[in-house]
Amino acid sequence: MTKHPDYWNRIYEDEGRPGWDMAGATPLVRELLDLARPLGLQAGGDLVVPGCGYGHDAAELAAEGFRVTGLDFAPLAIQGATERYGAKVAWHQDDWFTTALGPWDAIFDHTCFVAMDPVRRPDYVKACAAHLRPGGLWMAALFHEVKGPAGPPHAISMPEMRALAEAHFDVLHLAEATASHPRRAGREFLMVARRR
Ligand SMILES: C[S@@+](CC[C@H](N)C(=O)[O-])C[C@H]1O[C@@H](n2cnc3c(N)ncnc32)[C@H](O)[C@@H]1O
Repeated sequence: MTKHPDYWNRIYEDEGRPGWDMAGATPLVRELLDLARPLGLQAGGDLVVPGCGYGHDAAELAAEGFRVTGLDFAPLAIQGATERYGAKVAWHQDDWFTTALGPWDAIFDHTCFVAMDPVRRPDYVKACAAHLRPGGLWMAALFHEVKGPAGPPHAISMPEMRALAEAHFDVLHLAEATASHPRRAGREFLMVARRR
């Protein structure tokens, strides 16, 4: 039932600091920005972080000068983000598939796509395209290998990701991440794709 906010909210309630939370922004914020800027990411543009959790990545992106929306459908995630980072980011409790917010210039996607049930992936890609302005960029950190029990998160290979994204995007960069958190090293890859 990962499509329901209660599933995620319960984890925030039970664990306080869930296993995925790294108590700070992923080092991949910097790596993805360095990749996306030469590919057209606009300084100071409107950026959204879907499935923002406690908001570490969103706050880091705001510190980089972007106008950032942090979106998560779990109330405790948005509460935790607001408590940690206040008004630096526009926090919204909303569903990525159906939100009427946006459009944005870019998406920063870290552990949101991979949190989805794989049957929802084509609709997720469609939602990313719908929420971006034409030419907008989808920056994503993804797992090609997942440890532990059955997901989420769900692994995806680079060729599978390319094929999915190409329904609505031109894939500009697709390669191994080099700056992963040590706990995730060797298991992550990065994509930057432009909405057609
Ligand atoms: C694995 S957590 C990652 C949180 C954060 N990105 C991080 O790395 O700390 C996935 C997050 O996506 C949120 N989420 C899942 N499906 C969503 C949806 N359809 N719309 C909005 N948020 C969603 C969950 O509530 C959860 O906070």
